[in-house]
Amino acid sequence: MTAQRICSLGELVQDEARRFEVDGVAMAVVLDSNGEVHAIGDTCTHGDISLSEGFVDGDTVECWAHGSAFSLRTGKPLNLPAYEPVPVFQVTIDGDDVLVDPAVKLALN
Ligand code: FES
Repeated sequence: MTAQRICSLGELVQDEARRFEVDGVAMAVVLDSNGEVHAIGDTCTHGDISLSEGFVDGDTVECWAHGSAFSLRTGKPLNLPAYEPVPVFQVTIDGDDVLVDPAVKLALN
């Protein structure tokens, strides 16, 4: 599987998460305040809640339901009640295009 274009950089709003589905994989994509783009699994590991409906703060997104914040870099929850990480996907910027490969999950550490 190869990386697929999901949108242009200009379509992302800084510090807001947006939901995309690529090959059936739902992901929350965030342009952070440093201009970096992140893609993590969209479903909170505590419940069936879309993280793209959550609140972006720095390099984290907080689930609106019970407040677990997930690192956009590692996918790890930084506070309870969630304790399982979400996947983190490889993002490639090609000119103005944002590409994500849903098959490439970055190592969690
Ligand atoms: S559903 Fe996300 S923290 Fe509970």
